Amino acid sequence: MDSQQRRDAAAVDQAIITRRSVRAFLDTPVPREMVSEILAVASRAPSGTNVQPWRVYVLTGEAKLKLSADVLAAYDDPQRDSKYREEYPYYPREWVKPYIDRRRKVGWDLYSLLEISREDKARMHAQHSRNFTFFDAPVGMIFTIDRILEQGSWLDYGMFLQSIMVAARARGLDTCPQAAFTQFHAVISSHLRLTGDEMVVCGMALGYADPAAIENTLSTEREPVSEFARFLS
Ligand SMILES: Cc1cc2nc3c(=O)[nH]c(=O)nc-3n(C[C@H](O)[C@H](O)[C@H](O)COP(=O)(O)O)c2cc1C
Repeated sequence: MDSQQRRDAAAVDQAIITRRSVRAFLDTPVPREMVSEILAVASRAPSGTNVQPWRVYVLTGEAKLKLSADVLAAYDDPQRDSKYREEYPYYPREWVKPYIDRRRKVGWDLYSLLEISREDKARMHAQHSRNFTFFDAPVGMIFTIDRILEQGSWLDYGMFLQSIMVAARARGLDTCPQAAFTQFHAVISSHLRLTGDEMVVCGMALGYADPAAIENTLSTEREPVSEFARFLS
């Protein structure tokens, strides 16, 4: 690698490595042009036969507040789990090791930072509800996919989402991808007047991280390369 390549690699690595899920944002606005630029960069993500399966609803100001109010009302309904169900399974029906351990660890690490005990269902509910205000980020995004598309396009979709998060990071912004919205796809669907062909994939918060928020100090672990990769030669 020459010195320019080393600088480029360092900048790309930095954007990837410093990406983390941020769960408290400042109210500093993000210029619309910057959001548009991030989406244009992310749309360079690959997709099988260049299908480009993504569709994005970018919500700010009143539009974001109104969607949040509708989803929060649904979330606060005591009957929510029978009334509102995910349209696609994001998680396995039955959890097994090692995934269940990793899932529990990140959950409890977050709640212990916030000093929320396992018994305190009210505070857990309140913390989870912060998803639906996009953790107060000035920009909330809802992503949809055409139902006709298959599993391969969901793979492409992940690349698009990661590209948004990395492009945001390169501009000093932070994100939180949010599957929490999927339970309330029917509310979102009628609020955004989605066509019957569109399925809600997830949401995402975008903005400037609040450096004073304790939840933003959460650090998550990763398995070492030797645990998940085999080198064959
Ligand atoms: C598709 C997707 C959906 C997620 N949904 C949520 C969510 O609804 N709420 C939340 O707080 N975090 C959500 N996360 C964040 C994960 O918990 C997080 O990525 C993981 O714990 C690793 O931490 P890191 O992103 O800080 O590296 C989601 C992540 C992904 C990739």
